[in-house]
Amino acid sequence: MQPVRSANDWWREAAAEDGLKWLDFRVAKDDDLATLSKNAVLEFERGKQLTGMPTGPELSLLEVGCGGGRMTWVLADAFGQVVAADISDAYIKLAEQYCKKPNVIFRTISGNDLDALRDRVYDVVFSYEVFHHLERHVLERYVSDIHGLLRQGGTFVLELNTTPMRLLTRISIIFRYALHLAGKRHWRGWPTSPYFARIPYSAETIHGILTRAGFQVQKVLQPGKPQTWFVATTSAPSPPS
Ligand SMILES: C[S@@+](CC[C@H](N)C(=O)[O-])C[C@H]1O[C@@H](n2cnc3c(N)ncnc32)[C@H](O)[C@@H]1O
Repeated sequence: MQPVRSANDWWREAAAEDGLKWLDFRVAKDDDLATLSKNAVLEFERGKQLTGMPTGPELSLLEVGCGGGRMTWVLADAFGQVVAADISDAYIKLAEQYCKKPNVIFRTISGNDLDALRDRVYDVVFSYEVFHHLERHVLERYVSDIHGLLRQGGTFVLELNTTPMRLLTRISIIFRYALHLAGKRHWRGWPTSPYFARIPYSAETIHGILTRAGFQVQKVLQPGKPQTWFVATTSAPSPPS
């Protein structure tokens, strides 16, 4: 394998070789997406209850970073039209096989911006367990692009890990990187690549990025926790004068 040059390269090229094992190894120790989806139902319901996110057959949804499609499979029942995008062509192919629902379209995207998705507008954009893997310039660009892809009064529901990185975690990342350099690609079920390790964005940082992109941040739930949720909206259309 060529040396990986960025987080995007890793997700595009190397992650595919790992299959889906690590996506949720607490639930399924193999590539069984049906088992993974059982957990996705619970995770989505929990997120929906917590955030009060809008759902319904009249609404269109964009999912950013759909991976193998386990959440997409659940989202397809909660929205009228779903576009699910990911940087990894390998994951998109798996997702297409797994989630064959008539209201879902899968798209492979460059990983630098969301330009390829500009052919439609969305009522809701959703992203789960993705943004803490994005390098800062990509994250900022995605937030700004999502603002442009939402209709007026649209909603962005974003979940990511904002736990501060403790010394022990940092040491474990260095240890994993040493294993990686020594050619060991996994440890305790997870990839050892430094590009898999999350970037420790704080809830304040994400709030600032959303606000600068023009979003009104309506809710920040569980800041500083492994699952922090943001609900941010674009301005509603002005009432007729
Ligand atoms: C931890 S997985 C989560 C997948 C899915 N949301 C789920 O919960 O099963 C992170 C996903 O983000 C995708 N990803 C990483 N960088 C990306 C980028 N720049 N643009 C789009 N997707 C990206 C990866 O390919 C992977 O599918």
